Amino acid sequence: MASKILPSAPSLIRNPRLRTQCLRQVSRRTAPAFVQQRYISAYGYEQAKALTFSQYGEPPEVLSLHTHSISPPHGSLMTIRFLASPINPADINQIQGVYPSKPTFTTSLGTANPIAVAGNEGVAEIISLGEQVKKEGFKKGDWVFMKAPGFGTWRTHASATVDQVVKLDEQMREGITAIQAGTVSINPCTAYQMLKGFAELKEGDWFIQNGANSGVGRAAIQLGKKWGYKSINVIRSRDDKAAEEKLKQSLKDIGADVVITDAELQSQGIKDMSKEWTNGGREPIRLALNCVNGKAATAMAKLLASSAHFVTYGAMSKQPLTIPASMLIFKDVHFHGFWVSKWAEKNPEDKKAAVAEVLEMTRKGEFKDMPVDEIKWEWETKGEELISKVKDTLEGYREGKGVFVFGKT
Ligand SMILES: NC(=O)c1ccc[n+]([C@@H]2O[C@H](COP(=O)([O-])OP(=O)(O)OC[C@H]3O[C@@H](n4cnc5c(N)ncnc54)[C@H](OP(=O)(O)O)[C@@H]3O)[C@@H](O)[C@H]2O)c1
Repeated sequence: MASKILPSAPSLIRNPRLRTQCLRQVSRRTAPAFVQQRYISAYGYEQAKALTFSQYGEPPEVLSLHTHSISPPHGSLMTIRFLASPINPADINQIQGVYPSKPTFTTSLGTANPIAVAGNEGVAEIISLGEQVKKEGFKKGDWVFMKAPGFGTWRTHASATVDQVVKLDEQMREGITAIQAGTVSINPCTAYQMLKGFAELKEGDWFIQNGANSGVGRAAIQLGKKWGYKSINVIRSRDDKAAEEKLKQSLKDIGADVVITDAELQSQGIKDMSKEWTNGGREPIRLALNCVNGKAATAMAKLLASSAHFVTYGAMSKQPLTIPASMLIFKDVHFHGFWVSKWAEKNPEDKKAAVAEVLEMTRKGEFKDMPVDEIKWEWETKGEELISKVKDTLEGYREGKGVFVFGKT
């Protein structure tokens, strides 16, 4: 991370605690509301806050809100202000230390011990930039998202280099909200490539998926619908049956052909039901998308046609994936894994095209937003508030994905 604190910075700016103390003293003597206001950056320094961790562990135990300043950008540096950053399951796994892509631990944010900023996805606007960045075609106000995981997006501001970001062209950005832009680069791209890259589905072909109400699942339903594929969608059962029906309907509303619960998938009559949906079995199910594992994933594999493809991209149940040998020997089902980060690293142009297509569908109203739990992050929002929202996302059965939406930072 390129941000650093220059020795010439006035101590008021350099030391957040001193700055707060000073503001408090002023506020006691003059206007009490003053302390609530965001400190206006002077000498081009930007005040920033970030949710950081210095060691791996459960998010509520290891996260803390860290304040630091960012020196004015020069050369190939830009200062960006975040607009929207989601809380994805991978972000939690990364903080727990069980995600393959590790964040950068650094002392460049002004701490004695190295810290890392949490979060991997988000959209930010450029607020100031060095000469070299201008020459590369960037300008103030441009929206950018992160090229690769590990940048740290749960923060108000950051210092970035050109090669760490991807610019969202004016044309692609038109009519798109910050939340839409901040959540387009991982989940929809994952669904896009899994539908396109494994089985050669034709119009009218079926795919089946679990975690169907997830961000990826909802994207797969909508992309599949657009391309003429039919989908069987598995969700987890709810104790509240009215809520379960409502969830099923919400997936049908965005294009799901069939929605069942994991209990229904594992019930005795599932083979007959599947035949009913697929014209007596004459319309084969050629692709399965699995982010859950455990018994429900095995049950899903059993519905596949011979020589179908089964793609695993997540492990929400924390159970292993168990496959009967007969499925490999006699049914010739092909099992794959998929990781969008690796794919995007190897195929940056394909990822750009997928993002452009999803944003175009969004503009046309063909791709609906996933339900979102907006977490407002203002300059004065307390660390405990933000961390308790992260903690909430650890519970399942949520109505929407948590997304930090930055206000006056
Ligand atoms: N490989 C890749 O490149 C890649 C890319 C993106 C995402 N992913 C993975 O895809 C999955 C979905 O991510 P997302 O961001 O789309 O998710 P999300 O929108 O945050 O939704 C989470 C999903 O996980 C389900 N879930 C939560 N706890 C569960 C449990 N114990 N057992 C079974 N299901 C559970 C939820 O179902 P309920 O509503 O029933 O709780 C919901 O469908 C995650 O595993 C994520 O790591 C992988």
